[in-house]
Amino acid sequence: MNQNIEHLHFEKCESTQTILKDELNLRDSIPNLLVSSGSQSKGRGRSDNKWDSIENSIAMSFVIEPNSVLTLTSLELGAIICNYFHDYSLKLKWPNDLLNSQQMKCAGLLCQTYKDKILVGIGINYGPSQILERSQQYKFGRSHITNKQINDSDIKIISHSIYSYIINNRLTSEETIETWNSYCTHLNQKVEIRDDKRVDSGVFKGIGPNGEALIESKDLITKVYSGSLFLN
Ligand code: BTN
Repeated sequence: MNQNIEHLHFEKCESTQTILKDELNLRDSIPNLLVSSGSQSKGRGRSDNKWDSIENSIAMSFVIEPNSVLTLTSLELGAIICNYFHDYSLKLKWPNDLLNSQQMKCAGLLCQTYKDKILVGIGINYGPSQILERSQQYKFGRSHITNKQINDSDIKIISHSIYSYIINNRLTSEETIETWNSYCTHLNQKVEIRDDKRVDSGVFKGIGPNGEALIESKDLITKVYSGSLFLN
């Protein structure tokens, strides 16, 4: 059964993530709330990075229930978005990057806990942009999903359609692991995962029960819970 969605759309705003949180702070109960925009002046990315607004992009933030395994929630979302855009053959790079068919980042997502819910922010480079073109010489540079130009009304319609698809097509933890691995662009490839304290290298064997990367080296599997992944 389709669930009710409350949708706030802004042609321009500071950050859909901030608006979502401020809006929820004013309410007693938490609805299926979606905030969308085509242009953010203070977009936030993961690890305190900025998330710049570019032409033909979509910024959206919304509320969801966590996956039954909390740490799988963001991986589940990546897998559902690949399902949503199945015609465009998107791929996933651990932990949370969405890549287009040329292996370039075309969307990013961040998740924050809020009471017993999750606030999700997704930035989607939907159509082409001049800024993106400059980064396309790099593997895992940034690019877009489609060649379509979108206007403000399209952004509202597409973000509603994506949120509606997500809340009506949730994956169990088992489905998340299976679907995520099926979209993974570096399964069985040599990778390196770096964070502030350590570097793990070996063959990426998929994600484990909590979304951790399983890295095989010298017949041993190491579980890696955080870091940035690079292809060797
Ligand atoms: C990443 O760093 O890869 C995640 C980027 C997430 C950006 C989105 S755009 C919608 C929402 N509003 C924000 O300010 N950030 C998120």
